[in-house]
Amino acid sequence: MLMIKNFTSIFWTNTDASTNQLYTYFGIAAGCILFLVIFFTYYFSKKYRAKQPDELPEQKEINHKFELFILILAICITAFFLIMSINTMQQIQDIPENPKPDLVITGHQWWWEAKYPQSGVLTANEIHIPVGKRILLEVNSADVIHSWWVPALGRKIDMIPGLKNYIWLYADKPREYLGACSEFCGIEHARMRIRVVADTEEDFKKWTESQLEPVITQATPLFDKGKALFEQKTCTNCHGINGTPFSENIGPNLTHFGSRKRFLSDMKPVTRENLKEWLTNPQNVKPGVKMPNFIFNPDEIEALTEYIYNLK
Ligand code: CUA
Repeated sequence: MLMIKNFTSIFWTNTDASTNQLYTYFGIAAGCILFLVIFFTYYFSKKYRAKQPDELPEQKEINHKFELFILILAICITAFFLIMSINTMQQIQDIPENPKPDLVITGHQWWWEAKYPQSGVLTANEIHIPVGKRILLEVNSADVIHSWWVPALGRKIDMIPGLKNYIWLYADKPREYLGACSEFCGIEHARMRIRVVADTEEDFKKWTESQLEPVITQATPLFDKGKALFEQKTCTNCHGINGTPFSENIGPNLTHFGSRKRFLSDMKPVTRENLKEWLTNPQNVKPGVKMPNFIFNPDEIEALTEYIYNLK
């Protein structure tokens, strides 16, 4: 059994034991059926093939009893897995009646908003959770149907506008877990990637504290120029920065943007070059994205990059 567990963990690292067990059974059954189908296809094609080029192969009447046996067997296998699946779903979907979520994720075209109701942290795309703790996740959507799925952390769940859905997330190791939006949600659906960083309890506490710290308000003249441009060019109509009067949440919140490793739903690393390319023409980088091309001149891009990159 241990060997099978080790083997299936190559494909599946979900720490939820019941989901793992169901997946293992599915794997064994599907593997056996695949083997039998390949074996008999080969065996019968050898056994009944024509010996001479123009010979008609031997004709056989259908064996009705055998057909019935196969039909009943298929129904039994399907019923077994149906019951197993319903049982597993009930086991892992033990959501309390008045759920108090640890984390609220809102799907947007095409990024993730992350809110931590208990601490008040609001961020985007780079999602942190503590390791070794069941996290109650609430999901919803700001526009169309998205679907949240980080396979190693739990089951998939649809994000539906106007509806709150809940699942449990659990990470057993401090590392990064990848996922993707799993419901077609428009032109950039394929690039709506998820990155969840599971921190040790101490690191998660530090991260939370750093997120709650006020944003830097002044640094260099270029930074200040960027800050002024950010307001003049109406960036603030979509992007909020905590600790400033701007709290719009149409685009990703940019507080501490510079401390994130990646941006654009995990599409690119946060570097000055990528940020400049993005500001020059967002549509070139991510066609269809909601952010318009503001046709900034190179000096403005320098200043805006200096500002946004240093929001730490
Ligand atoms: Cu969001 Cu697909």
